[in-house]
Amino acid sequence: MKNKLISYNIPPMQYWTDCEEMTANGHLLIAGSTGSGKSVLLNSCIYSILKHSPVKAQFAFIDLKYVELANYKHLPHTLAYCTELQETINLLDACIYEMKRRYNLMALQGKKTFDGSTLYIVVDELADLLLTDKNTIKNQLQKIALLGRACKVQLICCTQCPNKQTIPANIIENFTTRVALRCMSAVQSRQILEIKGAENLPRYGQGILRNGCGYTKIAIPLTPEIEIKKRCRFWEQAIPKKIRQ
Ligand SMILES: Nc1ncnc2c1ncn2[C@@H]1O[C@H](COP(=O)(O)OP(=O)(O)OP(=O)(O)O)[C@@H](O)[C@H]1O
Ligand SMILES: [Mg+2]
Repeated sequence: MKNKLISYNIPPMQYWTDCEEMTANGHLLIAGSTGSGKSVLLNSCIYSILKHSPVKAQFAFIDLKYVELANYKHLPHTLAYCTELQETINLLDACIYEMKRRYNLMALQGKKTFDGSTLYIVVDELADLLLTDKNTIKNQLQKIALLGRACKVQLICCTQCPNKQTIPANIIENFTTRVALRCMSAVQSRQILEIKGAENLPRYGQGILRNGCGYTKIAIPLTPEIEIKKRCRFWEQAIPKKIRQ
């Protein structure tokens, strides 16, 4: 009876072979406890973007752990790769400037949506980032979370299970797509999904997805590192960085 709430509210398990849909609809937040597979899912999402819409994607990576996202450093799609706090603040400012530029362009063209590339801002360990300089980063993220969607500036963040002190609720609310991996407690599960249940998931490999359609239990795909490296090498050789920008 432990899983009662999940089995009651959530349709039968759906197996996802890639993460295209997850990254296509607004900001994505991945949360879970240590070792629950956040980085695995984050990498699968990036891989999926590179596979399905490589021509329409740009990336800005924020990797305070230095190594998690290093595979993507030299991709032609990568506009920035930050490992330091000050760099990150400057990068987020540049992203906000880019949003304004895109809105101005949309206004000039009389359009409500932007039809250029999607700029994905990828953050591994959002809670760490917010702990280092809470107010500046929080304000920047709030702006991006609020205004980014229409102009295709999209956040993909993963974080240790948040609490109200580390990640404010109004930032979490702006993530239209949220995936909870295994959490430590029902309180943490509620913080991310607004329902309990993620505390009963296996150690890794499964998650609960919350999006506009409700809740779905999902299997988390692991993309082998060798596949990621192969695809990155392909793009690095296909389009030398200087030409694309
Ligand atoms: N979907 C999965 N399928 C198979 N193995 C997985 C899966 N997800 C995670 N693992 C295993 O669990 C390990 C830890 O995963 P990962 O590094 O993504 O966790 P994390 O949540 O990012 O941890 P941390 O909080 O320490 O950064 C992986 O190296 C892998 O061996
Ligand atoms: Mg990780």
